[in-house]
Amino acid sequence: MAAPILVTGGTGTIGRQVVPLLRDAGRDVRVLTRHGREPADGVEYVTGDLLKNEGIEAALDGVEIVLHLAGSNKGDDEVARNLAQAVARTRVKHLVLISVIAADRVPLAWMKTQVETERAVVESGVPYTILRAAQFHDLVLKVVESMAKMPVVPIPGGLRFQPVDARDVAARLVQLALGEPAGRVPDLAGPKVYGLKELVRGYLEVRGKRRPTMPVRIPGKAGRAYRAAGNLTLDGADHGTRTWEDFLVERLGQPKEILTSAPAR
Ligand SMILES: NC(=O)c1ccc[n+]([C@@H]2O[C@H](COP(=O)([O-])OP(=O)(O)OC[C@H]3O[C@@H](n4cnc5c(N)ncnc54)[C@H](OP(=O)(O)O)[C@@H]3O)[C@@H](O)[C@H]2O)c1
Repeated sequence: MAAPILVTGGTGTIGRQVVPLLRDAGRDVRVLTRHGREPADGVEYVTGDLLKNEGIEAALDGVEIVLHLAGSNKGDDEVARNLAQAVARTRVKHLVLISVIAADRVPLAWMKTQVETERAVVESGVPYTILRAAQFHDLVLKVVESMAKMPVVPIPGGLRFQPVDARDVAARLVQLALGEPAGRVPDLAGPKVYGLKELVRGYLEVRGKRRPTMPVRIPGKAGRAYRAAGNLTLDGADHGTRTWEDFLVERLGQPKEILTSAPAR
């Protein structure tokens, strides 16, 4: 019987897409989570906390492939170091990490933790694959939803994104995890680049809302990096298939014509 595949973050946005694909590929799956639950459909759940360095060894027992998809606002670097050190003491043959596009190009504290996360994996000595992905549609939706609650929506000028569908990222991660360790592989972005205003407008159209927008400027180094498209991989990236419009239509259930016929404002 093949060893189970350990998925950290298997209960999160990307992990929830990855786990069923691994099951479809005939693999048993073990999920490390802080909130234990009953096994179901070939998936077992092991309770542990990567930040507190708890439960990791039990989760790794008998495992040969690890997909590290856990993440949060803080401490991802420490989490990765804890996991990488534990993995290095086992017979794991392949450690797969999801990271974020431009981790080393945008001077934000959270991005720096992603660089450190990658470093922990590389320096573990365990054969690895690292995939940097763009922002998931789900995350963009959360941001845009909260922006659209304001009576006037501030739009930082020059800010562009290439959001990607979590299902496209999940499919790529599973393909990578079941293949040979490949080091840092080409970034994965969505099929189109959008200004933030376009992303907001698409959302408002589907919701049947109108909001005035107001241009604002992000100050400092981070603002300059964003305006220079430092957060995008415009050359050499792989691309997912589903657009922001596809995602909105599916998630919010509106006909696509509303979006495609929307006049630019
Ligand atoms: N969201 C994006 O747009 C995006 C884009 C590119 C890359 N990424 C990367 O993808 C990863 C996952 O993102 P996501 O959007 O799927 O996150 P998410 O929906 O917020 O889920 C976070 C996951 O991490 C687990 N987790 C958090 N802290 C943990 C800890 N201390 N110990 C064990 N597990 C912990 C959670 O498990 P429990 O709550 O069950 O414990 C949960 O499954 C992150 O590393 C992120 O940097 C995200």
